[in-house]
Amino acid sequence: MYTTAFLDLPPLRSAAGTVRLPGSKSISNRVLLLAGLCQGRTRVYDLLDSDDTRVMLEALRQLGCGIEREADALVIHGLGGRLAVHEAQLFLGNAGTAMRPLVATLAVLSGLQGGCFELSGVPRMHERPIGDLVDALRDLGCQIDYLGQAGYPPLRLTGGHPRVDAPIRVRGDVSSQFLTALLMAAPLLCAQAPVRIEVVGELISKPYIEITLQLLARFGVQVQREGWRAFTIAQGATYRSPGEIHVEADASSASYFIALGALAASAQAPVRIEGVGAHSIQGDIRFIDAAQAMGAVVQQGPNWLEVHRGRWPLRAIDLDCNHIPDAAMTLAIMALYADGPSTLRNIASWRVKETDRIAAMATELRKLGAEVIEAADSLTVYPLRQVRAAAIHTYDDHRVAMCFSLAAFHGLIDGLSAPQPLRILEPRCVAKTFPDYFETLFSVARAEVADIPVLTIDGPTASGKGTLAAEVAKALGYHLLDSGALYRAAALAAQEAGLDAQDEAALAALAAQLPLRFEPGRIWLGDRDVSEAVRREDIGALASQISAHAAVRDALRQRQLEFRRLPGLVADGRDMGTVIFPDATLKVFLTASAETRAQRRHKQLISKGISANLDTLLQALKARDARDQSRRTAPLRPAQDAQLLDNSALSIEASVQQVLVWWAQRRPFK
Ligand code: DC
Repeated sequence: MYTTAFLDLPPLRSAAGTVRLPGSKSISNRVLLLAGLCQGRTRVYDLLDSDDTRVMLEALRQLGCGIEREADALVIHGLGGRLAVHEAQLFLGNAGTAMRPLVATLAVLSGLQGGCFELSGVPRMHERPIGDLVDALRDLGCQIDYLGQAGYPPLRLTGGHPRVDAPIRVRGDVSSQFLTALLMAAPLLCAQAPVRIEVVGELISKPYIEITLQLLARFGVQVQREGWRAFTIAQGATYRSPGEIHVEADASSASYFIALGALAASAQAPVRIEGVGAHSIQGDIRFIDAAQAMGAVVQQGPNWLEVHRGRWPLRAIDLDCNHIPDAAMTLAIMALYADGPSTLRNIASWRVKETDRIAAMATELRKLGAEVIEAADSLTVYPLRQVRAAAIHTYDDHRVAMCFSLAAFHGLIDGLSAPQPLRILEPRCVAKTFPDYFETLFSVARAEVADIPVLTIDGPTASGKGTLAAEVAKALGYHLLDSGALYRAAALAAQEAGLDAQDEAALAALAAQLPLRFEPGRIWLGDRDVSEAVRREDIGALASQISAHAAVRDALRQRQLEFRRLPGLVADGRDMGTVIFPDATLKVFLTASAETRAQRRHKQLISKGISANLDTLLQALKARDARDQSRRTAPLRPAQDAQLLDNSALSIEASVQQVLVWWAQRRPFK
């Protein structure tokens, strides 16, 4: 997950490959509760790991459900309709999909079997209405008290005498979750008689009720329905575990990758989405129809989709989007790539989501250079004819961040010259439903190598470039190349193989074959963790010797170039700016006096419990400087266009700030 203040996307050119998307939140929490209530064990695959599912799991644990983590699944031991615990205080965060169904099921169970349960959440949860559900449950005979404001959580459930001699009536126009909650509780009530639930008023968000009914069926309960007005559960129906169940990937999340295929994938190498497909039970999957209408070619199987570009430019659309409100935001971005203006209608609900999404989309699209007409309940977007480097504000709205990332493909628009980088502000907002969204995007999107920004930090040994580079990479969300570690690992391997430091051919052959793997903060040589070993002083000195050989440098060159991946790279070493990445956006040459550097190294060694002599260190360091500077191949020297930074008197933070200021000056964003 990117926790940076912003994330810059270079112009993107194509996409291909396979993505697995995180599970749907709505399905995950329903499955968890049904698995907790039913008879038997349920193995759940592909569960979403997010705040909302974590609180549901914790509640089930408190209620006495056995929960086991397996390598690729979670196993829930159901209660079989019998309360194992009769008193609990459950904290449910801001998860409506946990609060509403738990209130209904626990109200019924405590009514039938006795018990006292308190359910609460974060302050925002205590502003989300629940009165219609409580009214329905009270009518049924359940005993429920408001612990705060009437009509809102927190609540206390203290039993009562639920009976089903009359239909349960519930309003459907505030939240469909009230009906979902009652449908999930009903099978707990139907031992003696059938249960009938009637909806009062208009039912909103019908696709979510569809999900509930489908999942009830998977757990052995068939619901008879009369349109959207009445639902009946037969006498004697009970929950039975399906044994195992796969949670579908989130269909709204899929919309970004469907769009990606439509924009940037070829028929030979489509974008493949695994975890959701033709038989999806999620309403937002109908986004596929809209994408196809715009020109996407979509193939689908039971649990997968494959998408590639069909028509280009895309076909403009005029569409009522009421049935796919979340996924429709993706259409607003696809409209930039269309052959005329597209209008998304009946999207008034956008105004009361995470943010006023109509206003947000209009404002940010205009920043890019698009023409937009905003109305009370519709949005018209014109194709992009000119583009500006835009810093997209995301309004703490995951979907704004995700859909705007697709605007980074604007270089594909015919006749639009000079594509620009795109900045997404506060990218961490995607964590609400898709913490690894950008990583997933980068795993299938391609940029031209020359467009991927590089920041180089070269300098002598112990100048602090490793620390500086790591901090800058963290601030920008970029990859990190510690090129010294490559030479050190080669030196370690050479020492262990007993090679002569002058045997250039043998050293080069070894360097070329090095089974080296980098993980954040770790270096592996084969299956050995050599992170500590390569930092030894003798290995540093040997690295300095063997790195003077041109053939060794050549052998390690390609590996260094491969670090230039989306979204960008910070590289530190001796020749990053001069030889390996001569086209870097910013080159920093870091210096500090030999004395300062020797003192730093001394302190470092002492703190690790290694004895060291300051004077010896100073001499060794000067010798290394001399060797690194005087060698014929890639000698240590600042690139002509490098910014010099003497950090002798600077703190690490001050050095980082200085580099970020230089970086900002070289970026096109206001
Ligand atoms: O940065 P460092 O101390 O980890 O590097 C160890 C040695 O590797 C250094 O003395 C010279 C060599 N090196 C190099 O020649 N070119 C680089 N880009 C990085 C390191």
